[in-house]
Amino acid sequence: MINSKNLEKNEVKEYFNGTGFDRWNRIYSKSDDVNKVQKNIRIGHQKTVDDVITWIKKYPDLSKMTFCDAGCGVGSLTIPLLKSGVQDIQVSDISDSMIDETKLRIKNAGLSARGIKYKVSDLEKLTGTFDFVICLDVFIHYPQSVAEEMVKHLCDLSTSRLIVSFAPYTPLLAILKSIGTLFPGPSKTTRAYTLKEDGIISAAKEKGFVVVQKKLNQAPFYFSKLIEFQKIN
Ligand SMILES: C[S@@+](CC[C@H](N)C(=O)[O-])C[C@H]1O[C@@H](n2cnc3c(N)ncnc32)[C@H](O)[C@@H]1O
Repeated sequence: MINSKNLEKNEVKEYFNGTGFDRWNRIYSKSDDVNKVQKNIRIGHQKTVDDVITWIKKYPDLSKMTFCDAGCGVGSLTIPLLKSGVQDIQVSDISDSMIDETKLRIKNAGLSARGIKYKVSDLEKLTGTFDFVICLDVFIHYPQSVAEEMVKHLCDLSTSRLIVSFAPYTPLLAILKSIGTLFPGPSKTTRAYTLKEDGIISAAKEKGFVVVQKKLNQAPFYFSKLIEFQKIN
C-alpha cells in the first residue's frame, strides 16, 4: 500500500542508493574529500560508534550473542563489533549500495565471522529475534510518529537490549534548524528530523523496555542522543 510513510521511505532509499551513498560513503571513511561540516559529522558519529562498543564490551561472551545492526550504512558499527568478537550478526539497510559497501569493507578488513547475514530491507520489515538490536542515526530521516513505530518494531526484534541514537529535539536545536545552521550540507538533501526523547522512551516502554544508560554526543553540526534500553518484561 502506498501511503506517505512508504513514499518517504522510497525517497530515503533512492537517496541512499544515489547521491546520498556517495556523500555518506565519504563521510564515513578516511577520505580527505569532505568539507568542514562533513568532517565534523564524521568526528561526532565516531564518538557514537565508540560509545556503543564501550557499552557492548561490558557484556561477557559476545561471541555467543546475536546482533542486529539495522540501517547499517557502510558498516561503521558492524566492523568494530566484529573486531570485538561478535560472531553472529544480521546486517541490514534499506539501500543496496550501502549493503554492497558494507560487504566490501568487511572483506577488505579481512574480517569473517561464523554468521554474518546481509539483508537489503526496510528495518520495519525485519523479522527474527536477537540479543542486541542496534540502530544508529537512522531515525533522523523520519518524523516522530514514524520513528516511534520503528522503535516499537525494533523492540519486538530484541530479547534483551536495544540501542538507538537520534538527533534530539531541544528548543535551541529547533531554532538552529529553522535558520538552517543545523544539518547544513549533506542532511539537507533528505529531510532531517529532530526527535523528542520522551516519545522515543515511551515507545520503548510500551514494549517493556527501560533506559539503562544514555549519552549525548556532539560535534559542530552533529548532535546525537544515544540510549541503551533493557527488556524488563
Ligand atoms: C546516516 S546513515 C547511518 C548509518 C549507520 N547506522 C551508522 O551509524 O554508521 C543512515 C542509514 O539508514 C539507512 N536507512 C534509512 N531508512 C531506513 C529504513 N527504513 N530501514 C533500514 N535502513 C534505513 C540509510 O540507507 C543509511 O544507510
